[in-house]
Amino acid sequence: MDKDFFLPADDFFRRVIPNGLTFDDVSLVTRYSDVLPSEVKLETKLCESIHLNLPILSADMDTVTEADMAIGMALCGGLGLIHYNMSKRQQVKEVSRVKHHVHGLIQDPICFTADKLVGDVLQMIEEKSFQFRTFPIVDENHRLLGLLPGRVVKQRYSDRKVTEGMLPRDKVFTIRESEVGSDPIETADQFFSQHMGLHKLLVVDDEDRMRGLYTLSDIERIMEEGSDHIKPSRDTNFRLLCGAAVSVPRNSDGDIDRESLEEHVGEMIEKGLNLVAVSTAHGHTKGVGEATRFLRKCFPDLAILAGNVNTGEGVEFLAESGANIVKIGQGPGSICTTRIVAGVGIPQMTALYAAALKAKDAGVTILADGGISKSGDIVKALTLAEGVICGGLLAGCREAPGAIVEIEGKYYKQYRGMGSLEAMKDGSAARYGHSIKDIGSKSTAEGIEALKEVSGSLKQALGNLAGGIRAGLGYLGAANLHELKEKARFVQVSPAGQKESAPHDVVEIKRGEFN
Ligand code: XMP
Repeated sequence: MDKDFFLPADDFFRRVIPNGLTFDDVSLVTRYSDVLPSEVKLETKLCESIHLNLPILSADMDTVTEADMAIGMALCGGLGLIHYNMSKRQQVKEVSRVKHHVHGLIQDPICFTADKLVGDVLQMIEEKSFQFRTFPIVDENHRLLGLLPGRVVKQRYSDRKVTEGMLPRDKVFTIRESEVGSDPIETADQFFSQHMGLHKLLVVDDEDRMRGLYTLSDIERIMEEGSDHIKPSRDTNFRLLCGAAVSVPRNSDGDIDRESLEEHVGEMIEKGLNLVAVSTAHGHTKGVGEATRFLRKCFPDLAILAGNVNTGEGVEFLAESGANIVKIGQGPGSICTTRIVAGVGIPQMTALYAAALKAKDAGVTILADGGISKSGDIVKALTLAEGVICGGLLAGCREAPGAIVEIEGKYYKQYRGMGSLEAMKDGSAARYGHSIKDIGSKSTAEGIEALKEVSGSLKQALGNLAGGIRAGLGYLGAANLHELKEKARFVQVSPAGQKESAPHDVVEIKRGEFN
């Protein structure tokens, strides 16, 4: 009997056509469950190289994701997309900061050659803002000569050669690359337990050339993570995952500036970038297709996210252009005015359904981007998508860029659309198909400037969201995101039903966390 009322996605969305539905228009039907929320697994695979432990990405917006946010997102199992409203050099630096945050095995440790002075080391620390002061000393063939300890890297020794202060080779603890084994962190953990008081272990090859470095503090942090509920997203070298967005740069003739795109993305990859997002307001366009195709040709193994689209055709187009992952959403965002200004867009659940229909055959995964204002929206989005992108939900966190302002005793952070006039002037005009010189004359803003109430730490915010998602899956008897897709049955919610869904007919004295 129930199956006549509560429909799987295919029957449900086809039956409500031509109406477009968004998150609040639908509700999921609860089902028999033997799954406790605490047992629910939230892992998601976006493509071969990108596995997340929490299906949430932070938006590539200049008031949401820079290095601090991307570090926090990856530590909590998600992924941050570093925005591009900054110089290319700065964006490369932000990526580098994320990738250097707590390594497992550092495979390219900074080394100095024997001819250097302690003063040269100090200058490099200053220039590159290194947070560490111990360095391997190598000969011109990169063979290990010794280890310069932090305690001699001092101004008073600046005229002395690094070789005078270094621990000589026979006193430096090393292991061979071949001894690292399949679990490099476990190997290092055992070594540090056996060698009391040591906090650096170097890895060398058979010719004694430097191949890597472990530090005790990083290994301890990583081992502690193992006992946490939320597991960080890491690459195969145990570095945090990091994504970064690019637009479609154009030269003065209006052609895609391929050289600049290749050079910039290449530099970020050198720093360890895991995912590039070709991020625009309209992804089903010649320019985005060409830029994606070009990046795929230049970097065959790179994970590419492209968007935004909201149709099956858009998904197929970007998949054929070489994207692995496609962003879905045009105009649902909390700071977006695209639908008002341009009269276009599809309510998000219907857009996700249309996209999901084509994604599987096209060999891509999809992300729901924009309009998510509570954890229940994420559960609904995950019935059709492999992950979600959040802007507004995270913009009030400490890790988001920007200063905190106080207004009448309350604390806020700025949150603005990348299509707002000010953001476009700062660099995001290309995302909306404009050139900077057209801002204010031939172009209209598609986003607003706003404030978000300060909401504490990212870990707390993501913890609340993850708790809500777990609860949702528990209600459906789904132990993981794959089962969620299978078990999801939908009902449409009337305006009265929407009112019923939130607290009503009471005087609220303590605001609950709905997200
Ligand atoms: P939320 O709802 O999470 O949305 O705040 C974030 C997403 O909104 C998109 N975005 C915009 N869309 N005009 C738009 O139409 C804008 O100015 C704008 N800025 C961001 C973007 O996809 C982001 O991830």
